[in-house]
Amino acid sequence: MEIVLSLGGSFISDRPHEVRRLRGVLKRVSRNAIVVVGGGDLAREYIRFAGLLGLTKRSLHRVGIKATLINAFILSEVLDGEFFDGDPRRLRKRGLIVTGGFKPGWTTDTCAAYAAVSSGADVIFNISKEKGVYDMDPEKFRNAKLLRHIKFDELRKMTGAERKPGMNFIFDPMAATICKRHKIKVVVTNRITDVADYLKNGTTKGTIID
Ligand code: UTP
Repeated sequence: MEIVLSLGGSFISDRPHEVRRLRGVLKRVSRNAIVVVGGGDLAREYIRFAGLLGLTKRSLHRVGIKATLINAFILSEVLDGEFFDGDPRRLRKRGLIVTGGFKPGWTTDTCAAYAAVSSGADVIFNISKEKGVYDMDPEKFRNAKLLRHIKFDELRKMTGAERKPGMNFIFDPMAATICKRHKIKVVVTNRITDVADYLKNGTTKGTIID
């Protein structure tokens, strides 16, 4: 079975122990997996610095892409997977593939959505610092509630349409549109073990979007 993981850049830098468990989990659950790695703070820091040098918005997106690719390269070494730097819509390779961003203005969630379409995966695991999707920003509101199951249309109402280099979403609205169109589910979680749990019995401690 094909699976796709969208790994947040901040997740890989903040949770190295969890990341190291990924290799074992992937070995157990699937021989074919595409891991798309985000840029996290590394991308944001480079985008900030490059912005001070007067780069255009498009160039700043390209800087962000490079940051995702460095993270992806590191992950490919950790996971002993094949590093891929190219268009996720043309990704036809099998095995364990690790990749990052591709097109200025997208995010790695969008790359993950396209990778799921091209590989025929019916689920994307969106693994980031957040436990799942909340009804309010959990960093600002202490009474924010974790939502266990939401529809893509509800997610759309929660995220605006504006896109700036380095902008942070739970799951990118453009990626959500692609997933909705192709009936790909998204599991949002901060636990690597949820990948195995979900594939075994359809459960997660995070949020299912469909
Ligand atoms: P990320 O996909 O890492 O965004 O891309 P993120 O929301 O910060 O993800 P986390 O925090 O790692 O989970 C970082 C930036 O790189 C550019 C965009 O500017 C994006 O905000 N980027 C990334 C692209 O322009 N195209 C891509 O395909 C990927």
